[in-house]
Amino acid sequence: MSGWDIEIRASDICKDAIKKAKAGTYNPTEIHRGLSHELIEKYFSVNSVGDYVADPSLKRMILFFNVNLIESLHEIQTFDLILIRNVLIYCLRRRKMYCGKFVQNY
Ligand SMILES: C[S@@+](CC[C@H](N)C(=O)[O-])C[C@H]1O[C@@H](n2cnc3c(N)ncnc32)[C@H](O)[C@@H]1O
Repeated sequence: MSGWDIEIRASDICKDAIKKAKAGTYNPTEIHRGLSHELIEKYFSVNSVGDYVADPSLKRMILFFNVNLIESLHEIQTFDLILIRNVLIYCLRRRKMYCGKFVQNY
């Protein structure tokens, strides 16, 4: 993505999840849950115990936040892309509809 100015904001309500994401180190089972071999090759290296470590160039693009998305939904700024994988599964149906409506009006 040379020539692009990319900033990624990563958030989770759980401090341990943020800590793990900041470390950027994943065991083989975790890393193979959705990433292609090409992306793993490009952005990760394997450490001495066989875990996959995110490239510093990737980490530099990411700002991490400890946030409750539901409570701070109205504070969300403008983004080009928002990805929420397996997060709304924790919400009641009414809350999911609220999130969907919010995104539609965004
Ligand atoms: C099933 S995990 C999915 C993690 C990751 N997105 C993935 O697909 O591998 C759900 C994550 O959502 C976080 N989460 C749950 N409710 C949240 C909320 N209201 N605000 C922010 N994060 C939340 C949990 O702490 C957990 O890390």
